[in-house]
Amino acid sequence: MWDCRELGLFLCALSILPLVCFSASFVPLDNYLIDCGSLANTSIDSRNFTSDGFYKNLLSTQQDVLANTSLKSVTSSGDSPLYQTARIFTSSSKYTFPIIKKGRHWIRLYFFPFAYQNHNLSAANFAVTTQNYILLSNFSVSKNPVMKEYSLNLTSDTLVITFNPSHNSIAFLNAIEVVSVPDELIADDASTLNPVASYSGLLTVALETVFRVNMGGPTVSSGNDTLHRTWVPDQKFLIQPNLASNFSNIGAVTYVNGGPTENTAPPSVYGTLTQMNSADDPRSNFNVTWQFDVEPQFQYLIRLHFCDIVSKSLNELYFNVYVNSWLAAKDLDLSTKNHNVLATPYYMDLIAAPSVSNKIRVSIGPSTLNNDYPNAILNGLEIMKMNNSISSLSGSTTVPLASASSGSGSGSKKVGIIVGVTLGAISVLVLVAVLFILCRKQRRLEREGHSKTWIPLSINYGTSHTMGSKYSNGTTASAASSFGYRIPFVAVQEATNNFDESWVIGIGGFGKVYKGMLNDGTKVAVKRGNPRSQQGLAEFRTEIEMLSQFRHRHLVSLIGYCDERNEMILIYEYMEKGTLKSHLYGSGLPSLSWKERLEICIGAARGLHYLHTGYAKAVIHRDVKSANILLDENLMAKVADFGLSKTGPEIDQTHVSTAVKGSFGYLDPEYFRRQQLTEKSDVYSFGVVLFEVLCARPVIDPSLPREKVNLAEWTMKWQKRGQLEQIIDPTLAGKIRADSLRKFGETAEKCLADFGVDRPSMGDVLWNLEYALQLQEAVVQGDPEENSTNMIGELSPQVNDFNHDVSVSAAQFESSSLDDLSGVSMSRVFSQLVKSEGR
Ligand SMILES: *[C@@H]1O[C@H](CO)[C@@H](O)[C@H](O)[C@H]1NC(C)=O
Ligand SMILES: *[C@@H]1O[C@H](CO)[C@@H](O)[C@H](O)[C@H]1NC(C)=O
Ligand SMILES: *[C@@H]1O[C@H](CO)[C@@H](O)[C@H](O)[C@H]1NC(C)=O
Ligand SMILES: *[C@@H]1O[C@H](CO)[C@@H](O)[C@H](O)[C@H]1NC(C)=O
Ligand SMILES: *[C@@H]1O[C@H](CO)[C@@H](O)[C@H](O)[C@H]1NC(C)=O
Ligand SMILES: *[C@@H]1O[C@H](CO)[C@@H](O)[C@H](O)[C@H]1NC(C)=O
Ligand SMILES: *[C@@H]1O[C@H](CO)[C@@H](O)[C@H](O)[C@H]1NC(C)=O
Ligand SMILES: *[C@@H]1O[C@H](CO)[C@@H](O)[C@H](O)[C@H]1NC(C)=O
Ligand SMILES: *[C@@H]1O[C@H](CO)[C@@H](O)[C@H](O)[C@H]1NC(C)=O
Ligand SMILES: *[C@@H]1O[C@H](CO)[C@@H](O)[C@H](O)[C@H]1NC(C)=O
Repeated sequence: MWDCRELGLFLCALSILPLVCFSASFVPLDNYLIDCGSLANTSIDSRNFTSDGFYKNLLSTQQDVLANTSLKSVTSSGDSPLYQTARIFTSSSKYTFPIIKKGRHWIRLYFFPFAYQNHNLSAANFAVTTQNYILLSNFSVSKNPVMKEYSLNLTSDTLVITFNPSHNSIAFLNAIEVVSVPDELIADDASTLNPVASYSGLLTVALETVFRVNMGGPTVSSGNDTLHRTWVPDQKFLIQPNLASNFSNIGAVTYVNGGPTENTAPPSVYGTLTQMNSADDPRSNFNVTWQFDVEPQFQYLIRLHFCDIVSKSLNELYFNVYVNSWLAAKDLDLSTKNHNVLATPYYMDLIAAPSVSNKIRVSIGPSTLNNDYPNAILNGLEIMKMNNSISSLSGSTTVPLASASSGSGSGSKKVGIIVGVTLGAISVLVLVAVLFILCRKQRRLEREGHSKTWIPLSINYGTSHTMGSKYSNGTTASAASSFGYRIPFVAVQEATNNFDESWVIGIGGFGKVYKGMLNDGTKVAVKRGNPRSQQGLAEFRTEIEMLSQFRHRHLVSLIGYCDERNEMILIYEYMEKGTLKSHLYGSGLPSLSWKERLEICIGAARGLHYLHTGYAKAVIHRDVKSANILLDENLMAKVADFGLSKTGPEIDQTHVSTAVKGSFGYLDPEYFRRQQLTEKSDVYSFGVVLFEVLCARPVIDPSLPREKVNLAEWTMKWQKRGQLEQIIDPTLAGKIRADSLRKFGETAEKCLADFGVDRPSMGDVLWNLEYALQLQEAVVQGDPEENSTNMIGELSPQVNDFNHDVSVSAAQFESSSLDDLSGVSMSRVFSQLVKSEGR
C-alpha cells in the first residue's frame, strides 16, 4: 500500500497533468488556410484564412478575370465569410502545396453554391483528387453549404489537389485547409468486430469524417477544439431519445499522461455524456442506440470516446457497447483503463462495415455485473470512412488519378475566375450557426443521395457493353472493389432474343432464367424477376448487395443488373454445365466420377467457406442445395442464388433470429425448431448435399418406402452402422476407395449433427473433403486400373507408395490453391495425412 507521501506526490502529479496538457497546444507545421476568391484575409476563430491571391503561386490556373460583385442576400445561410467568395475552375486545375512535415493532414474543402453572372454553381459537377486518392467524384452541391473533411497521411514533399470539372461543367471552391495533424491522433491499430481481430494498417488509410458527435452536449465549434474540428449534438441520432439522458461535468475531466489528450477530443466533449435514462432503477435493462446513415460498400473507422464522469468511486460502472449489434466491449470498466483514476478520457477504435445496407448503429447497455445501478455511457463518437481498394472515398464513379499530375494551366485564357461577394461585417456567432447548419445540411444531402442509390453499386454506363468479358471468368476476387453494372433494358432484350421462351434454361421462385449473349459475345444467364413481388424485390436487392461484395471463383459472378421499367433482372456469368443436381439424377446426363464429385464438393465448400469468413461479417447463404451449385464447362463448382442470404450472427449473440426460409429436405432442424440462424445451418444443408452427391437421389422422395423418404435420415442410419457403401450411387460401386468413402461419410455425418455447435465449420469440412480427395487420388495415381472390387472394404496399407504420392499430389495441390485465398492451410491437411499414415 502507499504511504502518505507517495499518495501526496501522486495527487500532485495528477493536478499538474491537466495543466501540462492544456498548455501544450498543437502547432501545425503545415498550415494552409485559403479563402478562395477573396481579396482580403478572413479571420475565423482566431485563425487567419488568407486571400488566395496571396497563394496564387500554388495554383496552376492563371488568374485572368477578377470580378467583384456585391450580390446582396446571396442566402441567409451562406453568411460565413468563407462562403462569400469562390474560385471557379472552368478546366482541370490543381493546387500544389509544399509539405514540410510528412504524416497526417486535414484537408478541409468548403463549398457553397451561389449564382454569379452566367455561372451557376449549383450546376457545377466535378471531381477532386490527390496524387493517391479520389476524394470526390461526380460531385455537386445543390443548395446548402458543405464542408468535407479528410485526413490523409501525406508521404511526399508536395500535395497536389486537382479539381476536374465534368464534361461541359465547372468546378468551384470557397475555401480550403491543408493542416498538419498530430501523428498520434490515428494509430496503426484498431479492432474489427466480426471476427473480433486486431487490424493494423490504419497509418496508410485515407479517412473522411462523416460524423463527429458530442454526446449529451451542445455543438463544439472549431474554435473550441485544438484541431479545429466541429462536434455536433447527438439528439437527432438517438433512435429512442426518451431512453437517454444527458450529463455534464466538464471540470472533472482529467487528462493523464499516456492517455488521450485534448487533441484526441476537447474537455467539452469528454465532459458531457449521454447515459441511460432512469439509471437508478435497478430493473432498467435497455440499450441506448444511435443510428447513422452511411454509404454502403465502405469500411468505417468508428472511434468511441468515453470518460466516466458519473461514477462516484472506482469499479462502480460496468456496461456493454455494441456496434451494428456486434458486441464491441463487454463489461467495460472505464476506471481500470487509465491508472485507476476516475474521469479520465479513454477511446476505442473499431472497424466496421454498415449493417444491413447503409446504417451504422452504436448501442450502449447495462452489464449484468452491476445490478444495483445499471447504467451505460458514451461521451463522443467519430465515424470515418476508409478508402476502398481503388483508393477512393467517393462511391459513385472512378476517376483516373493520373489526371492529378497532368494539371492544365496550359496558358489557356479565362480558366480561373475569382468571384467576390462583398458582404458586411460578420460575427463569430453567425459562423457558429452556419457551421451547425452546414453539418446538418451536409448530412441531409448525403441521406437524400442515398435514398436514391440503395443499390450499392458503381454505375458506369460507358462500359456496360464490354464488361462481360472482364468479369465472366470470375477471377476478380476482390471483395472491396465491388463493381456491378446497370445494363440497359434494350441490351438485355437483345441479349435474350427479346426473352425468347425457347431460351429459358430454368424457372425458380424468383422468375425465369434465360440463356443470353451480350453483344461482345459473353454468354450470360439472365434471371428475370416477377416485377410486382415485394418478396422478390427484397431478394433482388440482397442478391445484388451480396454478389457485388463477394467475388470469388467459387461464387457465381454477377455481371450486371437492370432495374429500368420496374424490371428486376440479374445477369450472371453463364454456367455451361448447369446445376449439380442435374448431374446427379433425373436428367439423363452421364454420371460423374467420384473424383469429379469430390472436386465439385470441394469447390462449393470453398465458396461457402469464403462467404462465412471472407468478409468482416459472416454471410449465411440459407439455401444451400444441389440446385444452387452450378458447374462451368470444366465442371468447376460455383455457389449461386444469394436471394435469401443474411449477414451473420453477432459475436456474442451466436445466432440471427429470423423466419424460417430455405428448401425442404435441406433445412437445419435446429434452425427450424428455434428459428435461429447461424453459419452452421449452411453446414447442415451442405451435409445433405454431400449425401445427395454420394447417393444420387432426391433429398425427399415420397415414392420410396417410409424409412427412405428423407435422404438425411436414411443415410445417417447407414452411416452410423458403418455400412454407407450399401446405399451409394450404384454407378460409383467399387470405384470409391474405402478410406476416401469413410472420410467423406464421417464429414457428412458431422455436418448433420443435431446441434450447430457440434457441426464442423465450413473450413473444417473443406479440408476433410480435400483429404478425402487425397485419399482417393493416392490410389488412383498409384494404379489407375486397380480392380475396383478391391477398393471398398479394403484398408490400404501401402504406406510407402502413399508417402510418395502425397508429396506429388501435395505439390499439385499447393500450386492450384495458391491463387485461392480461401484455401485452407495445407499444413492442416498434411498433419492429418501424416497421422493417418501412422495408424
Ligand atoms: C494576408 O495574410 C498574409 C499572411 O498570412 C499577409 O502576408 C498579407 O499581407 C495579408 N493580406 C492582407 C490584405 O492583409
Ligand atoms: C491573424 O491576423 C491578425 C492581423 O490581421 C494578427 O494580429 C493575428 O495574430 C493573426 N493570427 C494568427 C493566428 O496568425
Ligand atoms: C476588385 O476590388 C479591388 C479592391 O477591393 C480592386 O482593387 C480591383 O480593381 C477590383 N477589380 C475589378 C475587376 O473591379
Ligand atoms: C504515414 O505512412 C507511413 C508509411 O507510408 C508511416 O511510416 C508513417 O508512420 C505514417 N504517418 C502517420 C502520421 O500516420
Ligand atoms: C442552377 O442549376 C440548378 C441545377 O442545375 C438549377 O436547379 C437552378 O435553377 C439553376 N439556377 C439558375 C439561377 O440558373
Ligand atoms: C452522377 O450522380 C448523379 C446523381 O447525383 C447520377 O444520377 C449520375 O448517374 C452520376 N453519374 C455518373 C457518371 O456516375
Ligand atoms: C439535455 O437533456 C434535456 C432533456 O433531458 C434536453 O432538453 C437538452 O437539450 C439536452 N441538452 C443537450 C446539450 O443535449
Ligand atoms: C468555447 O466554449 C466556451 C464554454 O464552453 C464558450 O463560452 C465559448 O463561446 C466557446 N467558443 C467558441 C468559439 O465556440
Ligand atoms: C442491446 O443490444 C444488443 C445488440 O443488439 C443486444 O444483444 C442486447 O440484448 C440488447 N440489450 C438489451 C437490454 O436490450
Ligand atoms: C486504401 O489505400 C491504400 C493505399 O493508398 C491501400 O493500401 C489500402 O488497401 C486501401 N484500403 C482498402 C480498404 O482497400
